[in-house]
Amino acid sequence: METICTVLGWDLPHIQTIQLYETLPSTNDFAKAQIRAGSAHGTVIWALEQTAGRGRRGRPWFSDNTSLTFSIIWRFPDYTKTGLLPLALGLGIARELQAYSSAIKVKWPNDLWVGRHKLGGILCESIKTPQGVWVVAGVGINVNRSQGQVQLPRASLEECCGYPLARFEVLSRALKGANDCLAQLWAGELDLREGFGLYGNFLNRPICLISSGEERLATAREVLPDGSLLVEAVGGLLEAVFPEEVSLRFPEEEASSKQGESDKNRCDKAH
Ligand code: BTN
Repeated sequence: METICTVLGWDLPHIQTIQLYETLPSTNDFAKAQIRAGSAHGTVIWALEQTAGRGRRGRPWFSDNTSLTFSIIWRFPDYTKTGLLPLALGLGIARELQAYSSAIKVKWPNDLWVGRHKLGGILCESIKTPQGVWVVAGVGINVNRSQGQVQLPRASLEECCGYPLARFEVLSRALKGANDCLAQLWAGELDLREGFGLYGNFLNRPICLISSGEERLATAREVLPDGSLLVEAVGGLLEAVFPEEVSLRFPEEEASSKQGESDKNRCDKAH
């Protein structure tokens, strides 16, 4: 695969090189192949178009030439801090995107949202090689309005700002947020409680927790230092849930994505 260009010596400790491609199936998949081929910590793979982007939980990720899609390659000493990276990244990028709008928030664990719609998502994947543990941090952000697709309602930065943006500018802000959150995480200075207090959009409001096809209504109370979400069930029972175990939806989101389905176990009914 030929790069359009490579930017060397990006001026951040954890962002060194940016490789730009016209089209890739998935920047995450390409980044993993690059790691096996010897890519270094701080390499960014940026594709102007992605044809088979992947989201969390095996879902497809829609993007076109209005979107920003990139993956960062980072090497970790071991797995002790990789688990918190997805949450740290969501907060770090949201913090930098405040330059566009203070309405940009994070839905636990790391979805970027504006109002009732999703603006972007993050998919972190790790692989182990003889050189250590590598994380591919894949980021997708809806930059400008798209004419294509769109199955689910989505937000874009253009709608937040009222004017279209250059993807490179958004990339450089997102990379700054990513770099800073990794530095914070490695220094043991990541404060999830404070971060989600500032940028979270889900605390102290009804949420729907989905696991193994079952849905239940609860209220999100706090993000704990291990990244779990402390929720209060309808009867008042407190429980910590982890991102791998549950999906979080807002009841109104659930209602709109499930029109026509049975009402059984529906959170919007319980609400
Ligand atoms: C999600 O919210 O489900 C995560 C979406 C992550 C999408 C990005 S786009 C760049 C990178 N390459 C991929 O195939 N996925 C991630």
